[in-house]
Amino acid sequence: MTPQPPSAPGPEADVLDFPLPPPGTMGPPEKCAQLRESCPMARVRLPMDATAWYATRHEDVRELLADPRLIRPTINDWPSRPGQTADDGPRLVTIAEMDGPRHAALRRALARPFSSRAVRGHLPRIRQSADRLLEAFQKGGRPGDLVAGFTAPFPLLVLCDLVGIPFEDRDWFLPVLDAALSGMVTVQEGRRVTDLLDEYVAGLITQKRNRPGDDVLTQLIRDCDDGALTHDDVMAFGLSMLTVGFGISSFFLANSVHTLLDRPDQWARLRDNREMMPGAVEEFLRFMPVMNGTLILLATENIGLHGQTIRKGDAVIPVPGSANRDERIFADADRLDLRRTGNGHLAFGRGTHNCLGAHLARAELTVGLQALLDRFPRLHPAEGQEPTWDDESVTKSPLSLPVSW
Ligand code: HEM
Repeated sequence: MTPQPPSAPGPEADVLDFPLPPPGTMGPPEKCAQLRESCPMARVRLPMDATAWYATRHEDVRELLADPRLIRPTINDWPSRPGQTADDGPRLVTIAEMDGPRHAALRRALARPFSSRAVRGHLPRIRQSADRLLEAFQKGGRPGDLVAGFTAPFPLLVLCDLVGIPFEDRDWFLPVLDAALSGMVTVQEGRRVTDLLDEYVAGLITQKRNRPGDDVLTQLIRDCDDGALTHDDVMAFGLSMLTVGFGISSFFLANSVHTLLDRPDQWARLRDNREMMPGAVEEFLRFMPVMNGTLILLATENIGLHGQTIRKGDAVIPVPGSANRDERIFADADRLDLRRTGNGHLAFGRGTHNCLGAHLARAELTVGLQALLDRFPRLHPAEGQEPTWDDESVTKSPLSLPVSW
């Protein structure tokens, strides 16, 4: 889509500062509960100097996520920045920005490798990855930072293994990804880093062609050779894996461990009653306020909601982190209830763009927690050391989690 200027705030609503959790905490932003009650479609000012509609109620988030009149802008393409022209074109196309038959064909090709059944088959490998990292972490001695040692590298290691991305390349691609996803870089820098990622994925595809592996990328290259997919589809898949294939899982895992360490009775309950794990994982997905503003959609036509008009070109932010605490849907919504049933959370989105990696993400959370509970039954926060947070980020997750055992 051609970059649109950020839309001006409508006269019908005040523009609020972007809701952030209190500094040094995980959230959710206290403002969300208030907005759900009195202003479910609020206008907010984003850090990158643009405004957007901020949807906080479960029913609205559910509808908006699946609404075909809302599309996903390409990375670094919205809002347009000084010096950016339509000729700059989209830099990185991932699965999220694809639509119609091409998107459907790619999702079809990926349905089997990311199915519940396929993920179940990978569980022993996933557990091996967890144990390998935790063994090294334990050898490092106590106290240790569980984010650096485990919650950050684990989902990346699992994804690399499954998809066929060399884990050893991470020191190169992680900083490039950070720059590409920050949204705060200049047009020139944005172009430079997205070109680097593009070249990296193209190089990976060439390598796999020459030396096929037992991985999803190799399977997709075969589908491409058979004519079911195009080279651009395989590129979009590779880029998607780098941009959305591991970070969110890391954030959920770190927040879940942090929340359990804050509630030692719940840690012990889960440790001693492992049959609770599937329900507990759904509750972690509901309860962790990670998705407070990461999903940005753009309206392709006027949409009426709650007596207001989302105008063509307006940005809309459905907030699953708020929807998942909606008291209209969840009894005692702000309480972590590991035995909650009928958990209709929206952590994985909804509609044609729902999360491709939902089964994998559930497996990573389950296996990650199981491996931790097995190895460190008495894991606890390191004395005198607090977790650290990036208070400016909309994605709240500890930067470090000092623990002992
Ligand atoms: C707890 C972890 C995760 C959460 C909460 C999560 C959440 C989401 C959400 C809400 C969406 C929908 C975005 C939208 O509507 O535009 C999404 C899409 C997506 N997710 Fe995840 N995700 C997680 C882990 C993963 C993993 C491990 C993978 C790896 C395969 C993955 C791959 C994707 C892809 C490729 C899409 C785009 C799908 C499409 O547009 O067709 N996610 N995810």
